[in-house]
Amino acid sequence: MTTITKEKSLHQKDVFSLIKDIPFKPYFAEHKHNIILFNEDCFNILPSIPENSVDMIFADPPYFLSNGGFTCHAGRKVSVNKGKWDVSKGREENYLFTLRWIRECQRILAPNGTIWVSGTSHIIYTVGYVLQDLGYKILNDIAWFKVNPPPNLSCRYFTHSTETILWAAKNKDSKHYFDYPLMKKLNNDRQMLSLWSIKPPSWEEKKYGKHPTQKPLQLLERIILASTRPGDIVLDPFCGSSTTGIAALREKRQFIGVEVEEEYLKLSIKRLKDEFENALKEK
Ligand SMILES: C[S@@+](CC[C@H](N)C(=O)[O-])C[C@H]1O[C@@H](n2cnc3c(N)ncnc32)[C@H](O)[C@@H]1O
Repeated sequence: MTTITKEKSLHQKDVFSLIKDIPFKPYFAEHKHNIILFNEDCFNILPSIPENSVDMIFADPPYFLSNGGFTCHAGRKVSVNKGKWDVSKGREENYLFTLRWIRECQRILAPNGTIWVSGTSHIIYTVGYVLQDLGYKILNDIAWFKVNPPPNLSCRYFTHSTETILWAAKNKDSKHYFDYPLMKKLNNDRQMLSLWSIKPPSWEEKKYGKHPTQKPLQLLERIILASTRPGDIVLDPFCGSSTTGIAALREKRQFIGVEVEEEYLKLSIKRLKDEFENALKEK
């Protein structure tokens, strides 16, 4: 475990007290900004997080699209395979996997908390079905338009250029938080649409190495600013290279990330340390 200097927390609600009953040690813990990473299967971590405790969850789960096909990257034909974790286990198993983690997330979300889940057609309809079945209230389905997408090599389909991000409240009684004025301000003083044009991660965001499905920081910053307040606790059960953690740190939210592959946590730590240094320079 890496621990960075113990300093007094900036936050009233302390993320460290929330993880005290988890029978696994964090892989990384930073006490000044309250950032914690676990190198575990999320099914080992989520059940030990207290109920009604987390303000917002962003989940970018396996899309189960690694089927041996091909796509185009930088003008070259490349495999779509992302890793073993992304191989479909069949419709029934994919559904049960989705049901299990989304049910745990609902238990740990605060009464007015919200969840965001990203996906393509391979998984997003299952996610939507599960959310409705469990009694979440779907608030928006964001269409993220991936500006300048790679061409479709087969020429038998339209070019895939969007991902869907479902935003849902814990249940129908939740009084979810939405920073409407800020979203309007960020959109030249006009109501922000549910169609978001955001470029894929820049070279700068990948300077420490690549995660095969890394999300752009701009996307996560918007999600965090729209649905949380400073000091809130954000959880990402499939955190990868910790884009959610970087955005949380930038916007002064606390963060718990869970990732099963150690190599992605090593990348996460490099990215987070860079961000800690930037935060120091800004002071
Ligand atoms: C779609 S990627 C997330 C990418 C991330 N949003 C980013 O910006 O880097 C999903 C991640 O979930 C991890 N994963 C898959 N199954 C998992 C599980 N059961 N528990 C924890 N992590 C898991 C994979 O290793 C992968 O890094």
